[in-house]
Amino acid sequence: MKIVTSIKELQDEIKKQKKEGRVIGFVPTMGALHEGHLSLVQEARKQSDYIVVSIFVNPTQFNNPDDLKTYPRDLDRDVKMLKDLSVELIFTPTVKEMYPEEDKRQFDFGMLDKVMEGKFRPGHFNGVAQVVSKLFDQVKPDKAFFGEKDFQQLAIIRKLVKDLKMPVEVVGCSIVREPDGLAMSSRNQLLTPEMRKNAPLIAKTLFESLNFASGKTVKETVDQVVNTINGSGMLEVEYFEIVDGNTLQPVDKWDDSDYIVGCIAVFAGKVRLIDNVTYKYH
Ligand code: PAF
Repeated sequence: MKIVTSIKELQDEIKKQKKEGRVIGFVPTMGALHEGHLSLVQEARKQSDYIVVSIFVNPTQFNNPDDLKTYPRDLDRDVKMLKDLSVELIFTPTVKEMYPEEDKRQFDFGMLDKVMEGKFRPGHFNGVAQVVSKLFDQVKPDKAFFGEKDFQQLAIIRKLVKDLKMPVEVVGCSIVREPDGLAMSSRNQLLTPEMRKNAPLIAKTLFESLNFASGKTVKETVDQVVNTINGSGMLEVEYFEIVDGNTLQPVDKWDDSDYIVGCIAVFAGKVRLIDNVTYKYH
């Protein structure tokens, strides 16, 4: 396994692999890896010959400086986990390497980033697009793997790739959950023991709402989810929206779309967790 920090070393290696006809699979991460990331690597292994994982905590996507400061980092542990999966190359650039000068690009995602995360984390998706477009340019992957937990991010990256006509296939991979249902996230390790005990209520409530929804309106379902989670007295819903899975715009009625997803952001103390559940898929 190679670990490189410079774009030049990365590109020299990728060129060699492409010359040999290898399919490059790419898993971009911000490190603090967990089973969810490993499942992306496993999917990349099935669909490609040479796997590149980037580990880079991208400052431009943090709208809250404290969040950037406290974001978990453990490179040695990450490297060990990726070695166990025989990943071929890890790219861990510095901020200077990725942003030798300020990235002033502004992306236009239409309505996709005007809702949910986009509304509550202004500038977040612009930062994600800056780093992902740079990484795609540097790695030139044939396929790139992203988790469906970040549902809105996945939709935005698909649009980015389409708008910039980048020759990469974006592969969405299912959410991986802890045995108690909590969606895996690097942020879970920031939860206090008490919050960790309460956090599974998010997934439990979302799953229960799948049954609750039949015979109930969209609004009743939204209220039920929000009231149940807030009713715990420990967790606080920032938003819960039931949206069209393609446009991400809220739906009023269940027959407004044949692809309907409920997306949630919840504060467990200071830690912000997101999750989603699919009500209807084609
Ligand atoms: O999902 C993430 O971990 C990050 O947003 C990504 C895609 C690696 C970009 O920094």
